[in-house]
Amino acid sequence: MEIDGIREVALRAAKEAGAIIRQGLEQARTIEYKGEKNLVTDIDRRSEEVIATLVRRELPGHSLMSEEGTRLQGDSGYRWFVDPLDGTTNYAHGYPCFCVSIGVEKDGEMIYGVVYDPSLEELFTAQRGEGAFLNGKRLHVSAVSRLSDALLATGFPPDVANAQENNLNHFINFIKRAQAVRRPGSAVLDLCYVAAGRFDGFWELRLNPWDVAAGALMVREAGGRVTDLQGQSLSLSRPRIVASNSVIHDEMLRVLAASA
Ligand code: IPD
Ligand code: CA
Ligand code: CA
Repeated sequence: MEIDGIREVALRAAKEAGAIIRQGLEQARTIEYKGEKNLVTDIDRRSEEVIATLVRRELPGHSLMSEEGTRLQGDSGYRWFVDPLDGTTNYAHGYPCFCVSIGVEKDGEMIYGVVYDPSLEELFTAQRGEGAFLNGKRLHVSAVSRLSDALLATGFPPDVANAQENNLNHFINFIKRAQAVRRPGSAVLDLCYVAAGRFDGFWELRLNPWDVAAGALMVREAGGRVTDLQGQSLSLSRPRIVASNSVIHDEMLRVLAASA
């Protein structure tokens, strides 16, 4: 079956990229700036190259879109969304909260996702209709039923200092209403942690397709809910995302509406 080949290539790509990311931590990192606070390292680019090379070679006809610019155009209906290193600012500082993320879509529907955190050697996988897994063990979202008991995560765009839509209004409201709010610095891992029940909810504005492709599937396959900030279906083009254990979702949407 086609999905078996996709899974095999995606897993290989995530593990090879993860090994490069892990090795990269032991050497001096070359840092460039895409914006005043928007970093990219040589390792982001090497990770991307390894993944794209594998997909191009093993699955010709598949399209691919990766954060640092690599694009493959194919006519098979399959499209790969790649974040070769999510959490680059953390990585540049040696703070161990980063990962590689690969999501695969068929005719507009996410069918497979893999996220690998090389620091903890945690491999998150999800296949449409088959569930989400962490190192092979099935994942379930949490059962927390009230926002006041919930541990949430969020993030801010690199241009937070100048952007109008900077998320600070929502952050202030959630920090008052939830049990606690974290800002770990890897949107992909935040989503995987919702799937794993470590976080009860996550929201962030103005992300990119590669930040949410694999993670959103992970949350849904673990029994959670993923929408935009209004509770409508998530758009991959400039995602504003709310992901939760589904029980606290409406409460989160109300807080977002109140501070909009
Ligand atoms: C960033 C991280 C961060 C989020 C930013 C993203 P990058 O991705 O996911 O947590 O708050 O919005 O841009 O640049 O490290 O791949
Ligand atoms: Ca990212
Ligand atoms: Ca990235």
